[in-house]
Amino acid sequence: MDSLPLPFIVLLITLFTPLQTSSAPGSACQSTCGSLQVKYPFGTGYGCGSPRFQPYVTCSSDHLLLTTHTGSYPITSVSYKDSTLTITPPYMSTCSSMQQSPNLGLDWASPFQLGPSIFLLLSCTPPTSSLTIKGSPVCDPSSSDLCASIYSCPSVVSLGLHLFPPTNTCCVYSPANFNSKGELDLRAMKCIGYASIASFQDSPTDPSRWQYGVTLKYTNGAFDDYDMNNKCNTCEDSGGLCGYSPPSDSFVCACKNGFNTSTACYNNYNPFQDDEDQEITWSSTSLPTWKIWLGLLAGLTFCLAA
Ligand SMILES: *[C@@H]1O[C@H](CO)[C@@H](O)[C@H](O)[C@H]1NC(C)=O
Repeated sequence: MDSLPLPFIVLLITLFTPLQTSSAPGSACQSTCGSLQVKYPFGTGYGCGSPRFQPYVTCSSDHLLLTTHTGSYPITSVSYKDSTLTITPPYMSTCSSMQQSPNLGLDWASPFQLGPSIFLLLSCTPPTSSLTIKGSPVCDPSSSDLCASIYSCPSVVSLGLHLFPPTNTCCVYSPANFNSKGELDLRAMKCIGYASIASFQDSPTDPSRWQYGVTLKYTNGAFDDYDMNNKCNTCEDSGGLCGYSPPSDSFVCACKNGFNTSTACYNNYNPFQDDEDQEITWSSTSLPTWKIWLGLLAGLTFCLAA
C-alpha cells in the first residue's frame, strides 16, 4: 500500500491550521469615534491621522476630545470640507443651563484657531458698552437683540441675575482671536459666564433652539504638504486610514485587513503577484499567513512532482 506522500500531509496540516487573525493590528486606527467619522488630519490614537494633530485630538471612551492648556473639550461635529469643528466646553452656558465659566483657551502652537463664533458674555459688570480692549469697544451694540433673547431664558437666575435682566450686563463678542495668552478671559472683561452660538438653526429669536458650541478652524500647516494630501487621498479612496510612523513620522496607510502600506490598500492583494512598487509592510502577525501560503505552494509543487 502506497503511503501518502509527506508533502501532501504537510499540505493537509497547513490547510487545517487555524489562521491567525490579522484584523487585530488594523484596530490601531479607527474610522469612527462614537458617532463621529474620524479621518485625516484627525486620528483615534498614536500613529493615526497627522502627527501635528495627534497631541490635541484624541478618542477617549467614544468621545472625540480637543485638549488645550485650559482643558479637554468634547468635539460635537467636524466638517472635513470646510476644515472646521465645533466643541462644547462643559462650563459654557446655554439657554437651559447657565453657569460660571473658567477661561477657554487655545494653544498657540496647535493647528486650531477661532472660527466664526458669536460669544454672548453674560452677567457682566454694567454697562458693557464701556468695555474696551486697548481702547476699542469689545461689544457689538448692533446685535444686542441677541442679548435680549438669551436673557429671556429662565436659567439666568443661576448667574445671579433676576428674570429678564437689563441687557447692559450682556455683551455680543465676535473676536477674531483670543487674547495674548490665547484665552477668552472672562475675568478681565468682568463677566461671569458665556454662551457661544454655533448656529441659530433658522430661529434667531428663539435661544432654546440655538445650537451652542465654539466653532474652530484648523489648518493642515507645513507638515501636511500637497504631496502628503495626495498620498492620503489615494489611501482613503482605497478604504485605508492615513497615519504616520514615528520617529520619522513618515506616511503610513493603515488598511482594514491589518497591514500597513505607504501607498494604498489592496484588499485582494496577492503576494505571488509581481508588484514590486507596492512597498507592502507586513505586520508581524500577518507574516505566519505568508508562510502558510508559501508552505501551500511548496506542498503543491511536491505533490505534482510526486
Ligand atoms: C500600522 O500603522 C498604525 C498607524 O501608524 C500603527 O498604529 C500600527 O501599529 C501599524 N501596524 C503594524 C502592524 O505595523
